[in-house]
Amino acid sequence: MYSDKVREYFKNPINMGIMKNADVVGKIENEVCSDVIKIYIKVNSNNIIEDIKFEAKGCPPVIASCCELTRLVKCMKIEEALKINEKIIIENLEGLPKEKEHCAELVVKTLKKAILNIKKNL
Ligand code: FES
Repeated sequence: MYSDKVREYFKNPINMGIMKNADVVGKIENEVCSDVIKIYIKVNSNNIIEDIKFEAKGCPPVIASCCELTRLVKCMKIEEALKINEKIIIENLEGLPKEKEHCAELVVKTLKKAILNIKKNL
């Protein structure tokens, strides 16, 4: 059902955990499936994402999408990170079942919410 990449990330997630000294946090809960995603970001004075972590209560595609997204945007400028969309995540995960594509979308939305909080704090 899931690609090797999704299964690998689900078994050995990267960038997972709480970040105590985060500059901002973005949180989204899906009311339909009640999955919850939290993304913590530490940003430096050049607007580069210095560190990023996530916590997620959800299905394997949510965990895998969080892993891939955080891997991609670490060390990116926030403006560049905003260009990452669910299509890129799904492609990098070697595909997701159609009915699970919204999971990647939800993860991208959570990142955008966190970045919006950075902008509010600037
Ligand atoms: Fe809930 Fe994927 S099943 S976000």
